[in-house]
Amino acid sequence: MLDSYGRKIEYLRISITDRCNYRCVYCMPPEGVEKMEHCDMLTLEEIEEIARAFVRLGVKKLRLTGGEPLARKGLVDLCRRLGAIEGVEDISLTTNASLLAPVAAQLREAGVRRVNVSLDTLDAEKFKKITRVGRLSDAIEGIRAALAVGMSPVKLNTVLIGGFNDDEIPALVGLTRLYPVDVRFIELMPIGHTTEFGAEAYLPCSVVLERVPELTPAGTDGGVAKLYTLPDALGRVGLISPLSSHFCAECNRMRLTSDGKLKPCLHSRQEIPVRGLHGEELEAAIKNAILCKPQMHVELSAEHRSESARNMNQIGG
Ligand code: GTP
Ligand code: 5AD
Ligand code: SF4
Repeated sequence: MLDSYGRKIEYLRISITDRCNYRCVYCMPPEGVEKMEHCDMLTLEEIEEIARAFVRLGVKKLRLTGGEPLARKGLVDLCRRLGAIEGVEDISLTTNASLLAPVAAQLREAGVRRVNVSLDTLDAEKFKKITRVGRLSDAIEGIRAALAVGMSPVKLNTVLIGGFNDDEIPALVGLTRLYPVDVRFIELMPIGHTTEFGAEAYLPCSVVLERVPELTPAGTDGGVAKLYTLPDALGRVGLISPLSSHFCAECNRMRLTSDGKLKPCLHSRQEIPVRGLHGEELEAAIKNAILCKPQMHVELSAEHRSESARNMNQIGG
């Protein structure tokens, strides 16, 4: 289906839980978050019903996010059911990978051909600092497991934070020489009630090209990342620049939150409830939400925060 600006909506991001075993500083407030009650969360059957309605309206690509999607029981079965919907061409997860290793093979078998993994640093102490609780070795084990079961591409998401991980740009880019992974740098987005970052934290992705001038352009990955490669590399480098060069004109996505609200835009307050709707009523609400998609999001910068009413763990990126 086309939205009011002629954009073809083909991608649904489904946040299946707001819970996460990590507490990343750019995602959650320092004091933690109140957990959503289980009864407020869509059941797996409700998620499937809503996804089916989206697919009838032209969605081809589904991404399960969180919080941490692997923290929700029944994920593998949900992936199998969603992957079996006629018209679904791509089903994937965005995960911190800490719980991935034991279920990677089952997920692959259930139809999940690829995953995107958050990895902000290659230093164990810094990893602990940014996630507040996580262990780097768990994430690495999960990434290795994804590669071992044949998931491809495996994309690593690095939120670029000036003064925290910009010194690791060459090492992170260097991973693409050694492993068949896409390393994607993401500009830090000021969204939700998180740790306040100073202006120096908001680096444009262009610093990656300044620090590693051997990178040459290699198109896009069909999504929000502009791609670059090193000579003879196995993987690619992606730059995701929501602040310095927003990609709203190509936006093809809708979001479903775990409490059953549609978000037409990541950075707007607007939410459309769909829980409890079925059949034509559900489709009508989805169509209405698609037509509500704004042309672009508000300006984002160190001084201008997102207008979204949620923290990132309640949206899933
Ligand atoms: P692919 O299907 O592999 O292209 O995945 P993706 O890049 O759409 O998903 P992922 O969850 O890995 O998101 C990567 C980063 O892009 C995260 O920081 C998201 O918050 C951000 N992102 C995804 N969609 C949007 C969007 O519509 N607007 C903005 N501003 N950022 C987005
Ligand atoms: N800015 C940019 N990216 C973010 N993510 C979470 N919070 C932010 C933020 N404030 C990323 C995570 C994950 C994806 C879902 O979104 O690192 O890879
Ligand atoms: Fe969890 Fe991802 Fe948020 Fe980190 S960014 S706390 S891994 S949901």
